[in-house]
Amino acid sequence: MNRQSLTVRDAIIGRRSIKLFNGQPVDRDAIVQILEDATWAPNHGMRNPWRFVMATGEGYENLLPVIRGLAIPNWEELSEDVLERQMSKFTTVGGVVFVIVPEDARQKERLEDFAAASALVQNAQLLAWDQGIGTCWKTPPFLDHPTFREHLGVQQGERIMSMLQFGYYDKEPKGRERTPVNELLTELK
Ligand SMILES: Cc1cc2nc3c(=O)[nH]c(=O)nc-3n(C[C@H](O)[C@H](O)[C@H](O)COP(=O)(O)O)c2cc1C
Repeated sequence: MNRQSLTVRDAIIGRRSIKLFNGQPVDRDAIVQILEDATWAPNHGMRNPWRFVMATGEGYENLLPVIRGLAIPNWEELSEDVLERQMSKFTTVGGVVFVIVPEDARQKERLEDFAAASALVQNAQLLAWDQGIGTCWKTPPFLDHPTFREHLGVQQGERIMSMLQFGYYDKEPKGRERTPVNELLTELK
C-alpha cells in the first residue's frame, strides 16, 4: 500500500523523541533502508564520516546483558521489579543503530565529520518518523566505556556518537517548547 509521505516541514515539526517504546520489533531491512537514505546527508569533502553497528532481534537480545552491566552497575542487588523498570528504556526498543564517526586529528575536520554525522542521524529520525517508526538519539555514558567499545568493535580513533533507538510506540509524546527565533536572532543592518 502506498502511503502519502509527510511534508518535510511536518516531519521536522511533528517528529518527537520516543522515550518509551512498546516492544514491537522493527524489521532490520527497514532500518537498513532508512540508513541508506539518511547517508544523503551533506558531508564535507565527501568523507562519508560514518559507519554503523546495528542490532535487531536476537542481536539486540544478546546486547542487553552488556548494556545492563554498564548502565546499571549494581543491577545484581536490585529486585526484579526495579531492574525491569530501569531496563525498560532499553528492553522495549525494537532495534538499535550505533553511529560511529572517525575522530580526525585535525580539529576542523573532526568538527565537520561530527556535524555531518549529526545531519545523518536527524535524516534517519525524520525518515523513520515518516514511516511511523519512532526513534530516540541517546548518548548514555557507557558508549565511551572500553568494554562497550570493544564489544562493538570500535577502533582507536573512532567514537560512537549516537545510540539511535528505533521502535514502535503507543503514545506520541507532546512537543517540548522551543525558544522563538525572535529571541535568538540578531540581525545585521
Ligand atoms: C545529541 C543528543 C543526545 C541525546 N541524548 C539523549 C539521551 O541520552 N537520553 C535521552 O533520553 N534523550 C536524549 N536525546 C533526545 C533529547 O532529549 C530530545 O531530543 C529532546 O528531549 C527533545 O525532544 P524531541 O526530540 O521530541 O523534540 C538526545 C538528543 C540529542 C540531539
